[in-house]
Amino acid sequence: MHPKLYDRLRSIICPFEKIIENVPKKAGELLDIGSGYGTFCFILSKERPKLKITGIEKDKKRVNAANNRVAANSNLNFACADITCFSANKRYDVITCLDLIHHIPKKDHLAIFKKINELLKENGRLIVKDMNDKPLYKYLWNYVHDFIMTRSLEMYYVPKEEMTKLLEENGFVTEFVKNIPNLLYAHYVVVCKKSG
Ligand SMILES: C[S@@+](CC[C@H](N)C(=O)[O-])C[C@H]1O[C@@H](n2cnc3c(N)ncnc32)[C@H](O)[C@@H]1O
Repeated sequence: MHPKLYDRLRSIICPFEKIIENVPKKAGELLDIGSGYGTFCFILSKERPKLKITGIEKDKKRVNAANNRVAANSNLNFACADITCFSANKRYDVITCLDLIHHIPKKDHLAIFKKINELLKENGRLIVKDMNDKPLYKYLWNYVHDFIMTRSLEMYYVPKEEMTKLLEENGFVTEFVKNIPNLLYAHYVVVCKKSG
């Protein structure tokens, strides 16, 4: 599929603008984990030109597709990495995880949030956008969607209350949690900061 068409379709499904409004406008470094084809990062880089944005993604083909679209002198870069064994020699002002967590086995969630906490600067912001398990019809719709996209039956949805608790138990203070209205998808976002 042509990348621009993919961006268009992905933007219809995922309300990127509702996520971006939580990303500070000032200069800083942002890490997007599970960046896929980079759609969110490309949109964000235009809306937040002062940010330096790094996307990490475990699927090499997706990373290559994203890197092929990066313009010279851009504020964007993409790297192939699995968050479960990722390390960096710097700390980030903002970390985003969009529809990542429900693709990662539950046994790894705790370790991932501990790692994200280490990767953030003090008072840095974490934005998690994921899918709720209610109402049932939206849950089922999203499950079918994820099955078609991944050809896997293994999905690990974390309801928003559970996600908030998990984050608070792992060094984050919740700023707010909200549903993002959509007819078919039960999107929610948790915005939190690393506790001091
Ligand atoms: C549903 S896609 C979302 C992509 C992108 N965040 C977006 O919103 O368009 C989830 C992505 O997370 C990636 N992913 C899953 N597990 C990962 C891991 N352990 N480390 C890095 N990326 C991972 C998948 O390969 C996939 O590209």
